[in-house]
Amino acid sequence: MSLWSDFLIRLFDTKETGTDFSKSVQTIIRECYILFPRYRLKLWIVNTRKNEIKIFTVTGNELKVKEFPLSQFKFESLLRSKSKPFYFFESKKQNRILIPLFIEDALSGCVAVSANSNKSMSEWKTRLPYFFIVAKRLIKILELNAKNTAIDTLMEMNQNLENKVTQIDLSLEREKRAHMQAGKMATLGEVAVGIAHEINNPLTIIVSRLGHLEKNLIKKDMLLPEIADSIKKVNQTVDRIVKIINGLRHFAYNGEERKTPVVLTKVISDSLELCQERLKKNEIELKIKKPTFDVEISAYDTQMIQVLLNLIINSLDAIRNLSEKWIEIEYKIEAETLSVIVRDSGTGLAADVADKIMNPFYTTKERGQGTGLGLSLSKSIVENHEGRLFYNSKATNTEFVIELPYIRVLDILA
Ligand SMILES: Nc1ncnc2c1ncn2[C@@H]1O[C@H](COP(=O)(O)OP(=O)(O)OP(=O)(O)O)[C@@H](O)[C@H]1O
Ligand SMILES: [Mg+2]
Repeated sequence: MSLWSDFLIRLFDTKETGTDFSKSVQTIIRECYILFPRYRLKLWIVNTRKNEIKIFTVTGNELKVKEFPLSQFKFESLLRSKSKPFYFFESKKQNRILIPLFIEDALSGCVAVSANSNKSMSEWKTRLPYFFIVAKRLIKILELNAKNTAIDTLMEMNQNLENKVTQIDLSLEREKRAHMQAGKMATLGEVAVGIAHEINNPLTIIVSRLGHLEKNLIKKDMLLPEIADSIKKVNQTVDRIVKIINGLRHFAYNGEERKTPVVLTKVISDSLELCQERLKKNEIELKIKKPTFDVEISAYDTQMIQVLLNLIINSLDAIRNLSEKWIEIEYKIEAETLSVIVRDSGTGLAADVADKIMNPFYTTKERGQGTGLGLSLSKSIVENHEGRLFYNSKATNTEFVIELPYIRVLDILA
């Protein structure tokens, strides 16, 4: 096989994909040198972004790359037009041919072949087709390299984006927790006002029972069962106070909470524990519509208490000045969906108010009375439990519905 055909076969046989850029360039320049030892082939690549030109040459087995400022080469003015396939430059010492390389219509470099000026024009002409083949091949390699670089850049950008998203997720999670805690503390502040009553009443019971005991014990006219009954009442009442205080402590806790299986009626009674006296003080009738079963849900229980408390306090605020005052809590399962409904004796919200109630900071309460965060926080808590919270505009009375997934139904009668 002749050197020529050998060269051509190798030129077209080399696989494009996965070719290492420098290696391919090196091979091509070396092949050329072997074929035409008296012609020196260089590859010029322009980097307009850096305003520089890279010149690839081969010495022995080594590919050498040198960078020069673009201005030094007047590159654009040398290869002004796309219409010419090559440019011939003559000088005393050497002649040079420049074959422009266009990648996606952009002038990206050229193949520069130089030889002593003693080479005749006819000699150049016989070599020229091979320099074109080399140029075509180099364009392919450059295109492939550009594609690979683009893919690498894209992959890097993608990775950076993914990292950023993870960071944002983490900081959002932190913010969400801080937001939840702030909301919890706001609710707590509201509840605290009522807590004085919650505790005052049982304390009054204790004081009066103890006074009664003391007085009658001194007189010694008290029967043992009566004494036992009074002590039992005092104990029960102290228990109630302890429960309220524990409930508050539990509620204010800002540790890492975990979803745990909880019984719905327990969440309801824990919520009521924190506002019962307030309801009593405002003479609001509390109705609980219980089916014959209980339901176990997976929940951050303090968060669920917060949601119910928010809804009950909203109802309380809305109806305290009405003549008919009641709040009803109902739960039911319909079509595999657990709904917990908080309904009050109000007659619904005006449409323009209803549209905005879930927006953070929307409140119709007087300054200092409401933050307007209650419902928006409750909504995000319920959504965090894969459920939804909404105002039911179709109901006759004011009605909010919490829909939640549940673990199982527990038979209360069993
Ligand atoms: N049961 C209800 N009856 C009538 N209006 C209600 C009821 N629940 C909520 N709203 C309206 O929705 C608004 C927003 O409620 P949300 O709980 O988000 O904030 P808020 O109660 O005003 O303030 P915060 O909860 O921070 O004390 C209330 O100001 C009120 O106008
Ligand atoms: Mg509220």
